[in-house]
Amino acid sequence: MSKVATNPENLLARLKQAQDRLGYLPEECLAEVARSLNMPLSEVYGVATFYSFLSTRPLGRNVIRVCKSLPCYLKNSRMIVESIEDKLGIRPGGTTPDGRFSLALVNCIGACDIAPAMLINHDVHGDLTPRKISRILQSYE
Ligand code: FES
Repeated sequence: MSKVATNPENLLARLKQAQDRLGYLPEECLAEVARSLNMPLSEVYGVATFYSFLSTRPLGRNVIRVCKSLPCYLKNSRMIVESIEDKLGIRPGGTTPDGRFSLALVNCIGACDIAPAMLINHDVHGDLTPRKISRILQSYE
């Protein structure tokens, strides 16, 4: 029996599609992807848990991803994270009890020129200050 080499980009694309469709990657979804690509489930799980834009746990309706890389860190991204933590009562990795927001720390999101920066869903927000955070969060249902 010949082994078919699986393109890692296929795996990532499949996981991204499933995440967009389901909001997260439940175990049965990972198993289905592994079966369809003829890959070990452990490998699929490893990729699903490696990338910060994928999640194996249910997420809130709005996912806040604050950049933790050096250029943002040097522009006080920690203060932005603390401001979000205070306002929402959650820590990175957490979701508000009403399911409105999840918070995550991620590597560079490509918005270094407007550091400190974050994503909420697909929206980029930059030049952040604690004052701006309140207004931005209020604009998400
Ligand atoms: S380092 Fe924060 S967006 Fe690039």
